[in-house]
Amino acid sequence: MLNVEEIRKDFPILDKKVHGKKLVYFDNAATTHKPRQVIDAIVEFYTKYNANVHRGFHALSQEASELYEEAHEIIAKFINAFSWDEVVFCYNTTDAMNIVAYSWGLKNVEEGDEIILTVMDHHSTMLPWRRVAELKGAKVKYVDIDSEGLIDYAGLEEKVTERTKVIVFPVMSNVLGTINDVKRIVRIARKVDAIVVADGAQSVPHMPTNVRDLGIDFLGFSGHKMLGPTGIGVLWGRRDRLEEMMPFKVGGDTIKDVTLDSVVWHDLPWRFEAGTPNIAGAIGLAEAAKYLMKIGMENVRQHEVELVEYTFKRIESLRTEIQVYGTRSTRYRGGVIAFNIKGLNHHTVGKALDLFGIAVRTGMHCAHPLHYRLGLKGSVRASYYIYNTLEEIDYFVETLSKIISLREVLKKQPVEEVCTGT
Ligand SMILES: Cc1ncc(COP(=O)(O)O)c(C=O)c1O
Repeated sequence: MLNVEEIRKDFPILDKKVHGKKLVYFDNAATTHKPRQVIDAIVEFYTKYNANVHRGFHALSQEASELYEEAHEIIAKFINAFSWDEVVFCYNTTDAMNIVAYSWGLKNVEEGDEIILTVMDHHSTMLPWRRVAELKGAKVKYVDIDSEGLIDYAGLEEKVTERTKVIVFPVMSNVLGTINDVKRIVRIARKVDAIVVADGAQSVPHMPTNVRDLGIDFLGFSGHKMLGPTGIGVLWGRRDRLEEMMPFKVGGDTIKDVTLDSVVWHDLPWRFEAGTPNIAGAIGLAEAAKYLMKIGMENVRQHEVELVEYTFKRIESLRTEIQVYGTRSTRYRGGVIAFNIKGLNHHTVGKALDLFGIAVRTGMHCAHPLHYRLGLKGSVRASYYIYNTLEEIDYFVETLSKIISLREVLKKQPVEEVCTGT
């Protein structure tokens, strides 16, 4: 199990007070905080090694290049990639998904082909593939969810045909928290030789990831959601798939040679890392991955299972007032809980929680189609990580209870007036 009290000491921001209250940070699906080790690694890079990579023979550039290359190796280890050069650094999951769509999709999807998406997709995975479909005259099909919020696997099997080229889905939903059965999806895809693009934005930070074992073709994830800095993300791809991609962002660092009428693309992964990369970001992300590996990703997952089960137990007494979306089974659910309080707008609840020092996200969480599918205008989302505690959940549930008791007043008066000083 995790030693949460020790872990919390590594996160300076957790000592912050918000509206005079101790910060309870439950917005980890949006972004996570950074431990001292990550902050220090970034400061150290700029203090001691700052230079551009792969550009010069001077000592600083050599050192910066070594650290940057080593960062690829650490990430490869973190997800059990076959080799470091299958790891492409990019900005974030959105960027990773766009790279695959434009570099693989535009080259390989043809008119009349099919792209299968799910109704639980984040916009950043859904929209690039819809664009590919528009540009290539391909057809988009959506897989539905069942009443528990799990992917409708039977529906997926029915939708797949010989024309299916790609199946795209989140390994973990950022709204329902559903953990999808990746291997089952891969088996379905392989029957028709479709490729599998997995959005790991919510899964990679929270559970073990073994790309060799999963059998997928591509995986994207974001550094900032796994203790790393913003502006750095990862696209992992199977070597043969990466090799069949056409670089879509081209320029410096992507080439071995250019003449006025020809170009020889660089080796993997450089041909997909156009321009000066986020060197400090990659080094910070590698430090984050090391931090997580030291804790153990199985322990991270177990901790979140415990937090989610505890939340379900504690809110049981409020079940007539609170509607929670997605499955109750932690076997298929990560540390994300989206809900609404009956009769109150989600933004009102989010604002009230903020005034009590609790940070959650409100709205549609970049998953509008999923909210429409659920018949919702939005939801409140609490999402956990390694530094969250059972005591914070006690405080969260007590605060929800207080908000419910203030419901009628909150419908009439501004949230600040009602909650400040309560
Ligand atoms: C499931 C999922 N996919 C993709 C993304 C996009 O991540 P980013 O904004 O870091 O590109 C998110 C972000 O919330 C997400 O939750």
